[in-house]
Amino acid sequence: MSIIVCPKCREKLNIDGNSLRCINNHSFDFSREGYVNLLLTNKSGDKKGDSKESAHARHNFLAKGYYDVLKNAIGKKMQGTVLDICCGEGYYDTYDGELYGFDISKEMVRLAAKSNKSGKYFVANLSQIPIDDKSIDTAVHLFAPFNDREFARILKDDGNLYSVIPGENHLIEMKELLYDVPYKNDEKAPDSSCLYLAEREKVSEKVHISSEDLFELFSMTPYFYRTSEQNKSRLKSSGDIDLTVEFVILKYRKNKPKEI
Ligand SMILES: C[S@@+](CC[C@H](N)C(=O)[O-])C[C@H]1O[C@@H](n2cnc3c(N)ncnc32)[C@H](O)[C@@H]1O
Ligand SMILES: [Zn+2]
Repeated sequence: MSIIVCPKCREKLNIDGNSLRCINNHSFDFSREGYVNLLLTNKSGDKKGDSKESAHARHNFLAKGYYDVLKNAIGKKMQGTVLDICCGEGYYDTYDGELYGFDISKEMVRLAAKSNKSGKYFVANLSQIPIDDKSIDTAVHLFAPFNDREFARILKDDGNLYSVIPGENHLIEMKELLYDVPYKNDEKAPDSSCLYLAEREKVSEKVHISSEDLFELFSMTPYFYRTSEQNKSRLKSSGDIDLTVEFVILKYRKNKPKEI
């Protein structure tokens, strides 16, 4: 039975030929790569997300394996029905079981569907996830906006949400090259009134990275736009370095209903 619901009327969507269709006859075609666009583009707030260029840049970078330590750790958490929230290009979706993934960027979802043939991917906005209530055992959410009410709605009562944020020392050697006073990430877990933080786990590794790859990574971070040309050039002349990649995996669970 389908857990994907119609973005127009919230009824279940079922496979009908090359489309997904609800009982009210709203239908959404499968693309060549096998994903479905469930974004109602005339709705305010449905921005297209990351551009094609940044999608491809991230795809090429991740394929080099520098974040594999996180991919392996997240892969081990996946069980039951899995949803990758803001999946990007689906790099972390190594699970063989039932896996759904969505992102607001069509290009990201296209890449995800192309590289993970068994995953079910759709384009959608985090503000109204087209997934039925209480249908997900494991939700994963990496480096993306937080929407705890939607996360709590789609999770089964005993489901887990794994949300990943950068660790305090993430890319610290890169920051040391760029800035006189590099600051550390604060590792602050997002607060929620409908989910509670059950566990936090740190995953970290040192990777050897070429200066070209380091610059490519840098250009994908928010630091890129805040750094002067002079400081950027320090990175270009750095040569290969050992770089810390560090992540915090936050496990959230649904608040237990209050006993009366
Ligand atoms: C930094 S990327 C992380 C992608 C992926 N989780 C990963 O780690 O490779 C953030 C992603 O969030 C997506 N995104 C941003 N706002 C969104 C929204 N309102 N609904 C769905 N996806 C959104 C972007 O398109 C982008 O792919
Ligand atoms: Zn419908």
